[in-house]
Amino acid sequence: MKGLILSGGRGTRLRPITYTAAKQLVPIANKPILFYGIEAIAACGITEVGIVVGETRREIEEAVGDGSRWGVRVTYIEQEAPLGLAHAVLVSEAYLGEEPFVMYLGDNLVKDGIVPFVEAFRREAPHCQILLARVPNPEQFGVAELVDGRVVRLIEKPARPPSDLALVGVYMFDPHIFEAARAIAPSWRGELEITDAIQYLIDKGYTVHPHVIAGWWKDTGKLEDMLEANRIILDALVPAVRGEVDAASEVHGKVVVEAEARVVRSLIRGPAIIGRGALIENAYVGPFTSVGDGVTIRGSEVEHSIILEGSSITDIGGRIENSLIGRNVAVYRAEAKPRAYHLMLGDRSQIGLV
Ligand code: G1P
Repeated sequence: MKGLILSGGRGTRLRPITYTAAKQLVPIANKPILFYGIEAIAACGITEVGIVVGETRREIEEAVGDGSRWGVRVTYIEQEAPLGLAHAVLVSEAYLGEEPFVMYLGDNLVKDGIVPFVEAFRREAPHCQILLARVPNPEQFGVAELVDGRVVRLIEKPARPPSDLALVGVYMFDPHIFEAARAIAPSWRGELEITDAIQYLIDKGYTVHPHVIAGWWKDTGKLEDMLEANRIILDALVPAVRGEVDAASEVHGKVVVEAEARVVRSLIRGPAIIGRGALIENAYVGPFTSVGDGVTIRGSEVEHSIILEGSSITDIGGRIENSLIGRNVAVYRAEAKPRAYHLMLGDRSQIGLV
C-alpha cells in the first residue's frame, strides 16, 4: 500500500501568509501541518509516500526532504495546475500503479491519526473507503448521504446538505479510481472533484465503505481553523523545559520551552510552546500560543496566537490575541514624532487597531 499526500493548492484564504509560504507548511504547535499527515501515514506502516506538489514545490521539498526522518521514501509528483483532487490522482497514476493507496489532503489534521481507518480497509478490501465526520456546517464540504449504513450519494458543497456527514480529507482507493477520475467532467469550479469520482464508483456498483471518525479533525484553510488546530494540539503537549527559565519568571501548565530559548522576567501560562532560540523578556505569553524558533517577545503580551519564526514583538504596550504572524515580522512601539502608526504591510494583511 502507498500513501499519496496532496500538497498543491494556493491557500487563498490564508493570504498574505501564503504569498510567501505554502499553506501546508504553516506550523501548528511549531510543526508544519504537512508533517502531521506524513506521521499519520508512516504510523500505518506505509513506507512509500508520493507528495503531489504545485507552485510551492521547492519549499515543500526543502522542508520534507526524502522522508527518511519519518522512515518513509518520498517521491514528488508535479501537478501543473490545481485542477482538482481527482486530477491529482490522475497525475499520480504512474507512481501508484496497481497498488491500493491512502490519499491524504496536506492541510487536514486528524488528531488521533488514521491507523483504524487504514486497518479497516486492509481487512475489508472495498474498492474505496471514505472518512466522514459530523459537522455543524456541512455545506462547506463534500457531504455523504447514507442509507442503512451504505453510501448512496456524495455531493460537493451542497446548498442544501442531505446530512451533516462531511468528507474528511482522507480517502482509500484501489486502481478503479483512475477509471472514475477519467470518466468525470470538471465541476462548476472547474475542478475534477474526487467527490464526483467516488460517486461514479457508487453508480457503477463498486464497494464504497464509510468510516465515521469519532475524534477531532480539521481542514485548516482559514485563520480560525489554524488557531483551533493550534489549541487542540497544544492542549496535548507534554510539558518540558529544555531552554532557560530565570528565577524571576513563572511557567504554568502545559508549556514546552525548547533548547536555547530564554524566558526572562516573564509569565508563560500554557498550553504554549516557545521555539528554539526564542527570547521572552518582561513579557506575558498566554494560553494557546505557539512562539516560533528565534522569535523575540519583549515588553509585550501575546495570547491565543501563532507567531512564525524570526519575528519580534517589542514594547507594544498592549496584548496581541487571535493572531497569525508570519516569518520575520517586526511589531514594535515607535517613539518617533509625530505619534502615528508606521506600517509596511503586504497585500491582504489585516490589522485590528485598538
Ligand atoms: C476538499 C473536498 C471536500 C472535503 C474537503 C475536506 O474540499 O473537495 O469534499 O470535504 O476537501 O478537507 P476543498 O478543500 O478542495 O474545498
